[in-house]
Amino acid sequence: MAGHFRTSPEQASQLFPAYPQFSGFMKPCRFEGEIQNLEVQGTIPPEIDGTFYRVMPDPQFVPFIENDPWFNGDGNVSSFRIKDGRCCFKQRFVRTEKFVRERAAQKALLGKYRNKYTDAVSFKIRTTANTNVVYFNGRLLACKEDAPPYALDPETLDTIGLEDFDGQLPSLTFTAHPKLDAKTKELVCFGYEAKGDGTRDVCYYCISPDGKFTETVWLVAPVAGMIHDFAVTDNWILFPIIPQICDIDRLKQGGEHWQWDSSVPFYLGVLPRRGARGEDVKWFKAPNAFPGHTVNAYEEESGKIVFDLPLTDKNVFFWWPDADGNAPNPESIKAKLVRYTFDPCSSDLDLPPFTVLSTEDCEFPRIDDRFSMKPHSHSFFDLMDPKLGTDFPAIAPVMGGGHAPYNALGALNHQTLELQKYFPGPTHLVQEPVFIPKAKDAPEGDGWLMALVNNYATMSSELHIVDTTDFSRAQAIILLPIRLRAGLHGNWIDSEDMKVANES
Ligand SMILES: [Fe+2]
Repeated sequence: MAGHFRTSPEQASQLFPAYPQFSGFMKPCRFEGEIQNLEVQGTIPPEIDGTFYRVMPDPQFVPFIENDPWFNGDGNVSSFRIKDGRCCFKQRFVRTEKFVRERAAQKALLGKYRNKYTDAVSFKIRTTANTNVVYFNGRLLACKEDAPPYALDPETLDTIGLEDFDGQLPSLTFTAHPKLDAKTKELVCFGYEAKGDGTRDVCYYCISPDGKFTETVWLVAPVAGMIHDFAVTDNWILFPIIPQICDIDRLKQGGEHWQWDSSVPFYLGVLPRRGARGEDVKWFKAPNAFPGHTVNAYEEESGKIVFDLPLTDKNVFFWWPDADGNAPNPESIKAKLVRYTFDPCSSDLDLPPFTVLSTEDCEFPRIDDRFSMKPHSHSFFDLMDPKLGTDFPAIAPVMGGGHAPYNALGALNHQTLELQKYFPGPTHLVQEPVFIPKAKDAPEGDGWLMALVNNYATMSSELHIVDTTDFSRAQAIILLPIRLRAGLHGNWIDSEDMKVANES
């Protein structure tokens, strides 16, 4: 009966609007605190010792923007500390400038997604830090691609502050998908719109394990498009551009940051990883498409680059339509897992056609991170297979919306193309998985998949642990007494890796 209540113009609404992204399982949870010794069905393997970190957009206050997208919520970071077969949970909002000032004002002050011209006040940094949490050099970095990250204490999740890497950060922005080189332990990063909103400037930088910037290269992209994720090999950096384009005049008029442009090709920037200058970048291109999150990239002995990713010809971010207001029906958007193989030294800038690795609708791909930037034989991802038995009529009324639903975890053998599936149950949908190896020297892909699962029957969240040698069941299901809405990304940090970093 929300419609019977009126909010005066001076008084901010305290009721989230009845849009799908604020309804059902997607209702903001806004919980901070800790829960010791979560209930466990089955047995958590005693070898597992580490922490799963993830972050979700979770608005602290009711937005004053009509139909504010899910992506615009405040970053709320969860940690699941697992040791000796037990799991302890913590959750805490990142104390961004936005969060702190809105809490003081007791209402939303930030306007549209990445449009400062719609804000109620002037922010120095308006990021929500809501996209990924990455552990590096003793700190947990809460990242969103529109600003530097916020550093958090990995144990308490307390916010330390905005991270400028001791003044070394050259760019106004920092990707939410930095890549850790499994061998050198360098953090390979970039920022786009790196000189401000709507700029085509991209800044590539590499950070040594002890935090020193060793490479800084400024380059210019062909369009001011979204470069959400990227890929790295031993010798090359790949920048895939999503054809969502920013226009500063549109921003000034109070419009959206992004607009889909089907006339823009899928550009793939290729830059030498070491010792490059900005003019060394080559912009390869392929027909207009939406490149999803990257699986991995590596070099063959021939010098060719192999690059795997989900790809679709549809605008995945359907809530940011084209200039005519056209957007696909969300249910029609399906991404295939594809492979590009190409010569980075070629003078022909048209990418050769991709090969299809899997036709099943998938996203949020991960690998065994020990093989990052090296040839990989296994990938893991969320997939949607309507034939698996999800009870859509039962979950539809309480699902909420604003994000693509996935009902299973996929595991693809890239050599045989065999696809195995873990189905968590008929009233369940999955979030992004992470992979945990059974041991430091275990064969690639021999370990556990861990993923947060939304249970729509109980309206609470579960953390499922699946042995990659048996996808027929979960080895353990960790039960939360609360509901965590859809998150974006997370990472598993082994305790041993964390100790090494803390001691260095
Ligand atoms: Fe992402």
